[in-house]
Amino acid sequence: MNFVLYDNDQGYYPTRRRTSASKPIGTDGDYFTSPTTHPVFGALLALQLREMWLLLDSPSEFTVVEMGAGDGTLRSDILEYAQQELPDFAVTIRYVATDLVPPSNINGVIDNSCLPVDVVGCIISNELLDAFPFNRFIVEDGVVKEIFVDYQDGEFVDSVGEVSEPEIAARVDPFLDSLKDGYQGEVNLRLAYWSDSVSAALQRGYVITIDYGYDRPELYEPSRRSGSIRCYYQHTLSQNPLRRIGRQDITSHVDFTAVDHTLMVNRIKRVGKLSQRQFLLNLGLKDFSDDITLRSLTNEFSREDSQENLAGIEALIDGEGLGKFKVLVHSKNIDQAHPITGITGRKTLVEGRNTPTLNNSEATHARLLRSGNPFARINPELRSDMTWEQLFCEDSTNIVN
Ligand SMILES: C[S@@+](CC[C@H](N)C(=O)[O-])C[C@H]1O[C@@H](n2cnc3c(N)ncnc32)[C@H](O)[C@@H]1O
Repeated sequence: MNFVLYDNDQGYYPTRRRTSASKPIGTDGDYFTSPTTHPVFGALLALQLREMWLLLDSPSEFTVVEMGAGDGTLRSDILEYAQQELPDFAVTIRYVATDLVPPSNINGVIDNSCLPVDVVGCIISNELLDAFPFNRFIVEDGVVKEIFVDYQDGEFVDSVGEVSEPEIAARVDPFLDSLKDGYQGEVNLRLAYWSDSVSAALQRGYVITIDYGYDRPELYEPSRRSGSIRCYYQHTLSQNPLRRIGRQDITSHVDFTAVDHTLMVNRIKRVGKLSQRQFLLNLGLKDFSDDITLRSLTNEFSREDSQENLAGIEALIDGEGLGKFKVLVHSKNIDQAHPITGITGRKTLVEGRNTPTLNNSEATHARLLRSGNPFARINPELRSDMTWEQLFCEDSTNIVN
């Protein structure tokens, strides 16, 4: 998985990022992420970061380290919103966006090896942990075995053997009684490296981690019998990582219990965890969508523009899509448990501030969202309430969310 995703010559990310014409993310790519769905996502995070800055007694420099920043959309949205709406905070931000595979044509996203140290501020990531290479397991005769990759008769195939690391079996063993033979899943051992690099960078402050996944034991529920592998290729979904080698993205659900444990080892404690939907609503997302509706009524916005913007914003909190993602907040070297509005939702942070809107080049995705599920009209077997994930899934019978 490490090779097919990240090898410099043949890996998915390096080859897709070498030319700007074939980006992995976006309408012409293989999948969407929240920052590429609507700039309100970055604006709400900017408001959350400013509150964290205030809670840390407004240091003269507040460093935001974004790990796995991809094409830097979140970075630009946070910085732009801060400059326009939060000038007191904007002058203190040092924003360091890093990626394992920084796009060659985008300024502002730098190589992983340049992580800063002694950071007072926040380490943030969106859909980074699901992109870490994982080990696969299968239960056979009541024992956890590992699934390796072999090459036979010109094809890549699964090959089962003893686990290569005791940690793989150790994570699954407590749930073995409930898992039938043939049950498959994933174990992510890379989280420990990530936690160490977060800890090495952060001196005092917060960690915001946004991704899809579950705490244990939910991750290893008996019904999720074929694991949580998701492969994305041109907005279709499959569970077979041995196809389209180097041409499709491969991910798995994140084990949030392992995230907690690995951060706890580094004295970084969980402050809270909730759905992306609730987190964004707590921060004041509704104020932004109400503002757009109001401006369309006063003709400040065309009907089409307002529908596209509302579709993009709604997609961020869609309970069957991005809204189902989880937001985890952790803290390091902060004694008092300060309330974090994204977690507690006691007041809106939007407070009448301007709403960021899509520009034309960003609106392609929102246009698709606005049109709903066009295939339901063509093929009566496809229900109109099917999610995009179900609609574009090649082997939907196996997939349990
Ligand atoms: C699914 S993309 C998300 C990109 C971006 N955060 C977004 O939301 O649009 C995952 C990103 O993580 C990066 N990545 C994978 N492993 C990484 C690592 N160990 N350190 C930093 N970035 C990594 C990939 O290169 C890719 O850009």
